[in-house]
Amino acid sequence: MILEPEKISLIQGPTPLHRLNFLSDYLGIDLWIKRDDLTGFAGGGNKGRKLEYLMPEIIAGGAQAVVACGALQSNFIRQLGAACSMHSIPCHAAVMDLPYSQSAGPPSEAGLKDQGGNVLLDELFGVKLHEYPNGEWEELYDRAEQLALKREHEEFRVYRMPIGGSSGLGAYAFHKACEEVGSGFDYVLTASSSGSTQTGLTAGFLDKGTQVIGICADPEPEVMEDLTRVADELHALFPNLPHLQEGDFDLRLDYAGEAYGVPSQAGLEAAKLAAQSEGIVLDPIYSAKAFAGLLDLADKKEIGGRVLFWHTGGFPAVFALP
Ligand SMILES: Cc1ncc(COP(=O)(O)O)c(C=O)c1O
Repeated sequence: MILEPEKISLIQGPTPLHRLNFLSDYLGIDLWIKRDDLTGFAGGGNKGRKLEYLMPEIIAGGAQAVVACGALQSNFIRQLGAACSMHSIPCHAAVMDLPYSQSAGPPSEAGLKDQGGNVLLDELFGVKLHEYPNGEWEELYDRAEQLALKREHEEFRVYRMPIGGSSGLGAYAFHKACEEVGSGFDYVLTASSSGSTQTGLTAGFLDKGTQVIGICADPEPEVMEDLTRVADELHALFPNLPHLQEGDFDLRLDYAGEAYGVPSQAGLEAAKLAAQSEGIVLDPIYSAKAFAGLLDLADKKEIGGRVLFWHTGGFPAVFALP
């Protein structure tokens, strides 16, 4: 038995689950979509689910400020900002236009615009953005820590939000979301980055004969370490859930394009196909790259049968395309 963690209601669930008829015929598979782009919370997207479990932790700890970090056009910071404002908790976010890993180095191509899209919504939702010059992820984490220490020095009780809301609780939200789908799918494909969406789905579908494939938005092998860290945290919080190991994860790095935060040509084409065949909007940084992966894997017959594309949202980023 699992002791249910505290939850607040933010999203309109269950989110729709429906078949993509045109694309099923086109690809020769039975293709379905889970519409977490339509959560109805703060512009939609996968983070609303995580925040339903993270906000009670923030509130229970008596936080007087939340400090997060991410890319300037982060979908997570947008949704976190809205949830914090609803509870009158100031949300500070250390951001860089394009953070990068040490192994990948700075990208040579431009990412999204530095205004419009999520940045515009951040202002609406009351996020306090602190922007820094591009640098490595470690530098961004340091910037966030400095912000947190400054707040603490001013006598605020601070909640330090892990990147993308990826903690054991964030993953639990996606483990729980699997109940909205049940069994019967051969494959589930989703965008993956900070790790809790893929970890939760992998745990949730483990005993259902469904293979979960995470299409990574970062071309960085270090993402596997994030998945196993989140898996450890999930197991520590919920010992009755399976303790996932590296071998349980199917993570594909080949569709991330040049860099995290930079749209890929294949992703932009996949987004056009989804838009013009099914009227579905994908975002250029996560879901479009994931859908490009789905198209390629279907083409190579690496996936087939009944396939579910888990749409993770990101719609506002479309309005920040260069
Ligand atoms: C639209 C979208 N899809 C997918 C992801 C990846 O989810 P996770 O960070 O849980 O791996 C993100 C994360 O920022 C996102 O914004």
